[in-house]
Amino acid sequence: MAVDKIRVLIVDDIAETRENVRKLLQFESDVEVVGTARTGKEGIQLSQELDPDVILMDINMPDIDGITATENIRQRSPHIQVVILSVQSDQNYMRRAMLAGARDFLTKPPMGDELISAIKRAGEMAHGERDKGAKQQMAVSAGGGAPGMMGGFSPLPQGKIVLVYSPKGGTGCTTIAVNLAIALNNEDTRSVLIDGNLQFGDVAVFVNEQGKNTIVDIAPRVDDLDAEILEDILIKHEASGVRILAAPQRPEMAEKISTDQFIKVLQFMQKMYSYVVVDTSSILTDVILSAIDLSDVIVLVTTQEIPAIKNSRLILDLLKTMGINKDRIIFTMNRFDKRIAITPERISENLKHEVSAVIPLDEKVAITAVNRGVPFMLDNRAQPIGKGLLSLAEVVRARMIALESESEAAAAKR
Ligand SMILES: Nc1ncnc2c1ncn2[C@@H]1O[C@H](COP(=O)(O)OP(=O)(O)O)[C@@H](O)[C@H]1O
Ligand SMILES: [Mg+2]
Repeated sequence: MAVDKIRVLIVDDIAETRENVRKLLQFESDVEVVGTARTGKEGIQLSQELDPDVILMDINMPDIDGITATENIRQRSPHIQVVILSVQSDQNYMRRAMLAGARDFLTKPPMGDELISAIKRAGEMAHGERDKGAKQQMAVSAGGGAPGMMGGFSPLPQGKIVLVYSPKGGTGCTTIAVNLAIALNNEDTRSVLIDGNLQFGDVAVFVNEQGKNTIVDIAPRVDDLDAEILEDILIKHEASGVRILAAPQRPEMAEKISTDQFIKVLQFMQKMYSYVVVDTSSILTDVILSAIDLSDVIVLVTTQEIPAIKNSRLILDLLKTMGINKDRIIFTMNRFDKRIAITPERISENLKHEVSAVIPLDEKVAITAVNRGVPFMLDNRAQPIGKGLLSLAEVVRARMIALESESEAAAAKR
Protein backbone atom coordinates (compact mmCIF):
# COMPACT_ATOMS: atom_id res chain seq x y z
CA MET A 1 0.00 0.00 0.00
CA ALA A 2 1.34 3.42 -0.92
CA VAL A 3 1.89 5.62 2.08
CA ASP A 4 -0.06 8.85 2.07
CA LYS A 5 2.00 11.97 2.29
CA ILE A 6 1.86 13.96 5.48
CA ARG A 7 0.21 17.27 4.63
CA VAL A 8 1.63 20.14 6.64
CA LEU A 9 0.37 23.67 7.26
CA ILE A 10 2.83 26.23 8.63
CA VAL A 11 1.42 29.01 10.82
CA ASP A 12 3.93 31.73 11.73
CA ASP A 13 3.90 35.51 11.41
CA ILE A 14 7.57 35.71 10.45
CA ALA A 15 8.22 35.07 6.77
CA GLU A 16 11.76 33.94 7.41
CA THR A 17 10.67 31.20 9.80
CA ARG A 18 8.07 29.97 7.34
CA GLU A 19 10.72 29.77 4.64
CA ASN A 20 13.29 28.07 6.86
CA VAL A 21 10.83 25.42 7.89
CA ARG A 22 9.78 24.90 4.32
CA LYS A 23 13.42 24.44 3.33
CA LEU A 24 14.01 21.93 6.09
CA LEU A 25 11.09 19.90 4.78
CA GLN A 26 11.63 20.14 1.05
CA PHE A 27 13.68 16.96 0.71
CA GLU A 28 11.30 14.82 2.69
CA SER A 29 9.48 12.77 0.07
CA ASP A 30 6.63 11.85 2.38
CA VAL A 31 6.02 15.35 3.74
CA GLU A 32 4.24 18.04 1.76
CA VAL A 33 3.74 21.65 2.83
CA VAL A 34 0.22 22.43 1.64
CA GLY A 35 -0.01 25.97 2.89
CA THR A 36 1.27 28.76 5.11
CA ALA A 37 -0.59 31.23 7.29
CA ARG A 38 0.65 34.43 8.93
CA THR A 39 -1.75 34.78 11.83
CA GLY A 40 -3.70 32.58 14.20
CA LYS A 41 -6.94 33.56 12.52
CA GLU A 42 -5.64 32.69 9.10
CA GLY A 43 -4.31 29.42 10.51
CA ILE A 44 -7.76 28.47 11.79
CA GLN A 45 -9.33 29.34 8.46
CA LEU A 46 -6.76 27.47 6.36
CA SER A 47 -6.98 24.45 8.62
CA GLN A 48 -10.65 24.22 7.65
CA GLU A 49 -10.04 24.73 3.95
CA LEU A 50 -6.95 22.58 3.52
CA ASP A 51 -7.60 19.95 6.16
CA PRO A 52 -3.88 19.25 6.77
CA ASP A 53 -2.57 16.34 8.84
CA VAL A 54 -0.11 18.40 10.83
CA ILE A 55 0.09 22.08 11.71
CA LEU A 56 3.36 23.69 12.76
CA MET A 57 2.21 26.50 14.99
CA ASP A 58 4.00 29.53 16.36
CA ILE A 59 2.83 30.91 19.74
CA ASN A 60 3.22 34.68 19.49
CA MET A 61 1.23 36.08 16.59
CA PRO A 62 -0.53 39.39 15.98
CA ASP A 63 -4.21 38.46 16.30
CA ILE A 64 -4.95 35.06 17.82
CA ASP A 65 -2.04 33.41 19.63
CA GLY A 66 -0.95 29.91 18.69
CA ILE A 67 -2.27 28.23 21.83
CA THR A 68 -5.77 29.64 21.41
CA ALA A 69 -5.69 28.77 17.71
CA THR A 70 -4.62 25.22 18.58
CA GLU A 71 -7.50 24.83 20.97
CA ASN A 72 -9.93 26.11 18.36
CA ILE A 73 -8.60 23.87 15.59
CA ARG A 74 -8.49 20.74 17.74
CA GLN A 75 -12.09 21.29 18.76
CA ARG A 76 -13.25 21.51 15.16
CA SER A 77 -10.95 18.89 13.68
CA PRO A 78 -9.65 16.49 16.30
CA HIS A 79 -7.74 14.47 13.70
CA ILE A 80 -5.43 17.41 12.91
CA GLN A 81 -2.25 17.22 14.99
CA VAL A 82 -0.56 20.43 16.10
CA VAL A 83 3.16 20.77 16.76
CA ILE A 84 4.03 24.00 18.56
CA LEU A 85 7.19 25.81 17.56
CA SER A 86 8.18 28.49 19.98
CA VAL A 87 11.12 30.56 21.15
CA GLN A 88 9.93 30.08 24.70
CA SER A 89 11.18 26.78 26.01
CA ASP A 90 9.35 27.57 29.21
CA GLN A 91 7.72 24.58 30.94
CA ASN A 92 4.62 26.69 31.43
CA TYR A 93 4.17 27.21 27.74
CA MET A 94 4.68 23.56 27.11
CA ARG A 95 2.02 22.64 29.60
CA ARG A 96 -0.42 25.18 28.24
CA ALA A 97 0.20 23.93 24.74
CA MET A 98 -0.43 20.34 25.76
CA LEU A 99 -3.61 21.41 27.51
CA ALA A 100 -4.78 23.11 24.34
CA GLY A 101 -4.38 19.79 22.59
CA ALA A 102 -0.98 20.22 20.95
CA ARG A 103 0.76 16.97 20.12
CA ASP A 104 4.33 18.16 20.46
CA PHE A 105 6.43 21.15 21.41
CA LEU A 106 9.69 22.21 19.77
CA THR A 107 11.85 25.22 20.50
CA LYS A 108 12.94 27.55 17.73
CA PRO A 109 14.89 27.22 15.61
CA PRO A 110 14.15 23.49 15.38
CA MET A 111 16.84 21.08 14.30
CA GLY A 112 16.04 19.39 11.03
CA ASP A 113 15.83 15.81 12.25
CA GLU A 114 13.97 16.81 15.38
CA LEU A 115 11.38 18.65 13.30
CA ILE A 116 11.02 15.86 10.80
CA SER A 117 10.58 13.16 13.38
CA ALA A 118 8.00 15.26 15.25
CA ILE A 119 6.09 15.78 12.00
CA LYS A 120 6.24 12.10 11.15
CA ARG A 121 5.02 11.11 14.55
CA ALA A 122 2.16 13.59 14.41
CA GLY A 123 1.42 12.63 10.79
CA GLU A 124 1.15 8.97 11.68
CA MET A 125 -1.26 9.89 14.44
CA ALA A 126 -3.35 12.03 12.06
CA HIS A 127 -3.51 9.24 9.47
CA GLY A 128 -4.51 6.81 12.18
CA GLU A 129 -7.33 9.11 13.28
CA ARG A 130 -8.51 9.50 9.70
CA ASP A 131 -8.44 5.74 9.11
CA LYS A 132 -10.51 5.23 12.21
CA GLY A 133 -13.04 7.72 10.88
CA ALA A 134 -13.05 6.04 7.46
CA LYS A 135 -13.55 2.58 8.95
CA GLN A 136 -16.49 3.86 10.91
CA GLN A 137 -17.91 5.31 7.71
CA MET A 138 -17.48 1.97 5.95
CA ALA A 139 -19.31 0.20 8.71
CA VAL A 140 -22.23 2.61 8.22
CA SER A 141 -22.48 2.04 4.49
CA ALA A 142 -22.20 -1.72 5.01
CA GLY A 143 -25.27 -1.47 7.23
CA GLY A 144 -23.32 -1.68 10.48
CA GLY A 145 -21.82 -4.77 12.00
CA ALA A 146 -18.20 -5.60 11.37
CA PRO A 147 -18.09 -9.20 12.53
CA GLY A 148 -14.51 -9.74 11.36
CA MET A 149 -13.30 -7.21 13.86
CA MET A 150 -14.88 -8.88 16.82
CA GLY A 151 -13.63 -11.97 18.59
CA GLY A 152 -10.16 -13.16 17.69
CA PHE A 153 -8.13 -15.44 19.91
CA SER A 154 -6.03 -13.01 21.79
CA PRO A 155 -7.90 -10.70 24.13
CA LEU A 156 -5.29 -8.04 23.43
CA PRO A 157 -4.22 -7.71 19.78
CA GLN A 158 -1.57 -5.13 20.48
CA GLY A 159 0.35 -4.65 23.70
CA LYS A 160 -1.23 -2.26 26.16
CA ILE A 161 0.55 0.53 27.95
CA VAL A 162 -0.24 0.79 31.65
CA LEU A 163 1.26 3.93 33.08
CA VAL A 164 1.47 4.32 36.84
CA TYR A 165 1.41 7.92 38.00
CA SER A 166 1.06 9.83 41.21
CA PRO A 167 1.08 13.61 41.50
CA LYS A 168 2.65 13.25 44.94
CA GLY A 169 6.00 11.59 45.60
CA GLY A 170 6.24 8.67 48.00
CA THR A 171 2.68 7.41 47.53
CA GLY A 172 3.90 4.09 46.14
CA CYS A 173 4.07 4.55 42.39
CA THR A 174 7.17 2.46 41.94
CA THR A 175 5.96 -0.16 44.40
CA ILE A 176 2.77 -0.53 42.38
CA ALA A 177 4.46 -0.45 38.96
CA VAL A 178 6.95 -3.17 39.91
CA ASN A 179 4.44 -5.47 41.54
CA LEU A 180 1.79 -4.85 38.90
CA ALA A 181 4.20 -5.81 36.10
CA ILE A 182 4.86 -9.06 37.95
CA ALA A 183 1.16 -9.70 38.58
CA LEU A 184 0.28 -9.12 34.91
CA ASN A 185 3.08 -11.34 33.62
CA ASN A 186 2.17 -14.92 32.71
CA GLU A 187 2.72 -17.32 29.85
CA ASP A 188 -0.01 -15.79 27.74
CA THR A 189 0.51 -12.17 28.58
CA ARG A 190 4.12 -11.15 28.95
CA SER A 191 4.91 -7.86 30.58
CA VAL A 192 7.81 -5.45 30.41
CA LEU A 193 8.50 -2.78 33.01
CA ILE A 194 9.91 0.57 31.96
CA ASP A 195 11.30 3.17 34.31
CA GLY A 196 10.03 6.54 33.10
CA ASN A 197 11.43 8.36 36.11
CA LEU A 198 14.51 9.26 34.10
CA GLN A 199 16.30 11.28 36.79
CA PHE A 200 15.76 9.30 39.95
CA GLY A 201 14.30 6.05 38.73
CA ASP A 202 14.61 3.25 41.23
CA VAL A 203 12.90 0.34 39.53
CA ALA A 204 16.22 -1.49 39.24
CA VAL A 205 16.78 -1.14 42.99
CA PHE A 206 13.32 -2.55 43.73
CA VAL A 207 14.31 -5.75 41.93
CA ASN A 208 17.97 -5.73 42.96
CA GLU A 209 19.27 -5.45 39.40
CA GLN A 210 21.34 -2.27 39.65
CA GLY A 211 24.34 -1.53 37.51
CA LYS A 212 23.13 -3.21 34.35
CA ASN A 213 21.94 -1.86 31.01
CA THR A 214 19.62 1.12 31.01
CA ILE A 215 17.50 3.10 28.61
CA VAL A 216 20.66 5.04 27.71
CA ASP A 217 21.87 1.91 25.90
CA ILE A 218 18.71 1.63 23.84
CA ALA A 219 17.92 5.28 23.04
CA PRO A 220 20.42 5.76 20.19
CA ARG A 221 19.10 2.64 18.51
CA VAL A 222 15.37 3.39 18.59
CA ASP A 223 15.10 3.54 14.83
CA ASP A 224 16.44 0.07 14.23
CA LEU A 225 15.17 -1.92 17.15
CA ASP A 226 14.56 -5.61 16.83
CA ALA A 227 13.84 -8.48 19.16
CA GLU A 228 17.50 -9.39 19.41
CA ILE A 229 18.69 -5.94 20.43
CA LEU A 230 15.92 -5.82 22.97
CA GLU A 231 16.84 -9.20 24.38
CA ASP A 232 20.42 -7.94 24.72
CA ILE A 233 19.56 -4.75 26.51
CA LEU A 234 16.55 -5.50 28.70
CA ILE A 235 17.23 -6.77 32.18
CA LYS A 236 15.78 -10.19 32.71
CA HIS A 237 14.40 -10.46 36.19
CA GLU A 238 14.90 -14.17 36.76
CA ALA A 239 12.61 -14.57 39.74
CA SER A 240 9.55 -13.25 37.90
CA GLY A 241 10.40 -13.51 34.21
CA VAL A 242 9.54 -9.83 33.74
CA ARG A 243 11.82 -7.84 31.42
CA ILE A 244 12.93 -4.46 32.68
CA LEU A 245 14.25 -1.28 31.11
CA ALA A 246 15.99 0.67 33.84
CA ALA A 247 16.42 4.43 34.14
CA PRO A 248 19.82 6.04 33.52
CA GLN A 249 22.44 5.43 36.23
CA ARG A 250 22.80 9.10 37.10
CA PRO A 251 20.29 11.99 37.11
CA GLU A 252 22.28 14.15 34.70
CA MET A 253 22.00 11.43 32.09
CA ALA A 254 18.22 11.85 31.91
CA GLU A 255 18.52 14.54 29.29
CA LYS A 256 20.22 12.12 26.95
CA ILE A 257 16.79 10.60 26.36
CA SER A 258 14.52 12.62 24.10
CA THR A 259 10.76 12.39 24.22
CA ASP A 260 10.81 11.04 20.70
CA GLN A 261 13.15 8.23 21.71
CA PHE A 262 11.14 7.37 24.78
CA ILE A 263 7.90 7.19 22.81
CA LYS A 264 9.51 5.05 20.15
CA VAL A 265 10.76 2.66 22.79
CA LEU A 266 7.24 2.35 24.20
CA GLN A 267 5.78 1.78 20.76
CA PHE A 268 8.27 -0.93 19.99
CA MET A 269 7.64 -2.63 23.32
CA GLN A 270 3.94 -2.72 22.46
CA LYS A 271 4.74 -4.97 19.54
CA MET A 272 6.65 -7.39 21.72
CA TYR A 273 4.76 -7.51 25.01
CA SER A 274 1.14 -7.72 26.06
CA TYR A 275 1.63 -5.25 28.88
CA VAL A 276 4.05 -2.36 28.94
CA VAL A 277 4.05 -1.06 32.51
CA VAL A 278 5.60 2.40 32.93
CA ASP A 279 6.73 3.87 36.23
CA THR A 280 6.88 7.67 36.38
CA SER A 281 7.93 10.61 38.52
CA SER A 282 5.48 13.11 39.95
CA ILE A 283 7.04 15.88 37.90
CA LEU A 284 5.22 16.14 34.60
CA THR A 285 8.13 16.14 32.18
CA ASP A 286 7.58 16.25 28.47
CA VAL A 287 8.46 12.55 28.40
CA ILE A 288 5.81 11.73 30.96
CA LEU A 289 3.10 13.91 29.41
CA SER A 290 3.68 12.25 26.05
CA ALA A 291 3.70 8.81 27.63
CA ILE A 292 0.40 9.61 29.37
CA ASP A 293 -1.04 10.57 26.04
CA LEU A 294 0.08 7.32 24.47
CA SER A 295 -0.91 5.00 27.29
CA ASP A 296 -4.02 2.87 27.27
CA VAL A 297 -4.71 3.17 30.96
CA ILE A 298 -3.32 5.31 33.71
CA VAL A 299 -3.16 3.91 37.22
CA LEU A 300 -3.50 7.09 39.25
CA VAL A 301 -2.21 6.55 42.77
CA THR A 302 -3.40 8.43 45.82
CA THR A 303 -3.25 7.89 49.56
CA GLN A 304 -5.51 9.02 52.39
CA GLU A 305 -3.44 12.17 52.90
CA ILE A 306 -4.93 15.54 52.00
CA PRO A 307 -1.99 16.75 49.86
CA ALA A 308 -2.16 13.58 47.77
CA ILE A 309 -5.91 13.96 47.37
CA LYS A 310 -5.60 17.62 46.49
CA ASN A 311 -3.04 16.85 43.81
CA SER A 312 -5.19 14.01 42.52
CA ARG A 313 -7.97 16.49 41.94
CA LEU A 314 -5.58 18.72 39.99
CA ILE A 315 -4.32 15.88 37.87
CA LEU A 316 -7.82 14.58 37.16
CA ASP A 317 -8.66 18.06 35.84
CA LEU A 318 -5.51 18.14 33.77
CA LEU A 319 -6.14 14.70 32.29
CA LYS A 320 -9.63 15.81 31.37
CA THR A 321 -8.34 18.86 29.52
CA MET A 322 -5.77 16.67 27.80
CA GLY A 323 -8.72 14.74 26.40
CA ILE A 324 -8.04 11.56 28.35
CA ASN A 325 -11.28 9.64 28.71
CA LYS A 326 -12.33 8.88 32.28
CA ASP A 327 -12.46 5.17 31.50
CA ARG A 328 -8.74 5.19 30.89
CA ILE A 329 -8.00 6.23 34.46
CA ILE A 330 -7.87 3.59 37.18
CA PHE A 331 -7.93 5.56 40.38
CA THR A 332 -6.12 3.55 43.04
CA MET A 333 -5.69 4.09 46.73
CA ASN A 334 -2.44 2.86 48.22
CA ARG A 335 -1.37 2.58 51.84
CA PHE A 336 -5.01 2.24 52.88
CA ASP A 337 -5.44 2.25 56.64
CA LYS A 338 -8.96 1.59 57.82
CA ARG A 339 -8.36 3.48 61.05
CA ILE A 340 -8.24 6.69 59.05
CA ALA A 341 -11.59 8.31 58.41
CA ILE A 342 -10.94 9.32 54.82
CA THR A 343 -12.36 6.28 53.05
CA PRO A 344 -12.10 5.36 49.37
CA GLU A 345 -15.85 5.98 49.11
CA ARG A 346 -15.48 9.51 50.41
CA ILE A 347 -12.66 10.25 48.01
CA SER A 348 -14.65 8.79 45.11
CA GLU A 349 -17.53 11.05 45.96
CA ASN A 350 -15.42 14.08 46.56
CA LEU A 351 -13.37 13.84 43.39
CA LYS A 352 -16.24 12.45 41.29
CA HIS A 353 -14.05 9.60 40.23
CA GLU A 354 -14.46 6.12 41.57
CA VAL A 355 -11.56 4.55 43.45
CA SER A 356 -11.39 1.18 41.67
CA ALA A 357 -8.63 -0.52 43.63
CA VAL A 358 -7.45 -0.36 47.21
CA ILE A 359 -4.09 -1.59 48.43
CA PRO A 360 -3.71 -1.78 52.19
CA LEU A 361 -0.91 -0.30 54.25
CA ASP A 362 1.71 -2.82 55.26
CA GLU A 363 4.96 -1.14 56.05
CA LYS A 364 6.70 -4.29 57.18
CA VAL A 365 6.07 -6.19 53.97
CA ALA A 366 6.51 -3.19 51.65
CA ILE A 367 9.72 -1.85 53.13
CA THR A 368 11.34 -5.24 53.64
CA ALA A 369 10.58 -6.00 50.01
CA VAL A 370 12.37 -2.87 48.80
CA ASN A 371 15.33 -3.31 51.06
CA ARG A 372 15.82 -6.93 50.02
CA GLY A 373 15.09 -6.15 46.39
CA VAL A 374 12.44 -8.86 46.30
CA PRO A 375 9.00 -7.53 45.26
CA PHE A 376 6.23 -8.76 47.57
CA MET A 377 4.30 -10.11 44.61
CA LEU A 378 6.84 -12.92 44.59
CA ASP A 379 6.79 -14.06 48.20
CA ASN A 380 3.87 -12.32 49.87
CA ARG A 381 1.01 -12.73 47.43
CA ALA A 382 -1.26 -14.12 50.10
CA GLN A 383 -0.84 -11.11 52.42
CA PRO A 384 -3.50 -8.39 52.21
CA ILE A 385 -1.05 -6.07 50.41
CA GLY A 386 -0.39 -8.78 47.82
CA LYS A 387 -4.08 -9.45 47.41
CA GLY A 388 -4.70 -5.74 46.95
CA LEU A 389 -2.16 -5.69 44.18
CA LEU A 390 -3.68 -8.77 42.53
CA SER A 391 -7.07 -7.14 42.58
CA LEU A 392 -5.59 -4.06 40.90
CA ALA A 393 -4.13 -6.35 38.21
CA GLU A 394 -7.60 -7.81 37.69
CA VAL A 395 -9.09 -4.33 37.36
CA VAL A 396 -6.42 -3.49 34.76
CA ARG A 397 -7.10 -6.67 32.75
CA ALA A 398 -10.85 -6.15 32.86
CA ARG A 399 -10.56 -2.50 31.90
CA MET A 400 -8.39 -3.33 28.89
CA ILE A 401 -10.89 -5.85 27.61
CA ALA A 402 -13.78 -3.45 28.23
CA LEU A 403 -12.03 -0.61 26.40
CA GLU A 404 -11.16 -2.93 23.53
CA SER A 405 -14.69 -4.18 23.04
CA GLU A 406 -16.10 -0.70 23.55
CA SER A 407 -14.07 0.67 20.66
CA GLU A 408 -15.01 -2.31 18.50
CA ALA A 409 -18.67 -1.88 19.34
CA ALA A 410 -18.48 1.84 18.58
CA ALA A 411 -16.84 1.13 15.25
CA ALA A 412 -19.45 -1.49 14.39
CA LYS A 413 -22.40 0.64 15.41
CA ARG A 414 -21.52 3.76 13.47
N1 LIG B 1 0.91 -0.30 50.59
C1 LIG B 1 2.00 0.13 51.24
N2 LIG B 1 2.12 -0.02 52.57
C2 LIG B 1 3.21 0.42 53.20
N3 LIG B 1 4.26 1.01 52.64
C3 LIG B 1 4.21 1.19 51.30
C4 LIG B 1 3.09 0.76 50.54
N4 LIG B 1 3.35 1.05 49.26
C5 LIG B 1 4.56 1.65 49.22
N5 LIG B 1 5.09 1.72 50.46
C6 LIG B 1 6.38 2.30 50.85
O1 LIG B 1 6.36 3.70 50.59
C7 LIG B 1 7.63 4.15 50.19
C8 LIG B 1 7.51 4.92 48.89
O2 LIG B 1 7.13 4.02 47.87
P1 LIG B 1 7.54 4.23 46.37
O3 LIG B 1 6.94 3.11 45.63
O4 LIG B 1 9.00 4.44 46.23
O5 LIG B 1 6.76 5.59 46.05
P2 LIG B 1 6.87 6.60 44.80
O6 LIG B 1 7.42 5.81 43.66
O7 LIG B 1 5.48 7.05 44.57
O8 LIG B 1 7.77 7.69 45.23
C9 LIG B 1 8.52 2.93 50.08
O9 LIG B 1 9.27 2.82 51.24
C10 LIG B 1 7.53 1.79 50.01
O10 LIG B 1 8.07 0.60 50.53
MG1 LIG C 1 9.11 6.16 42.43
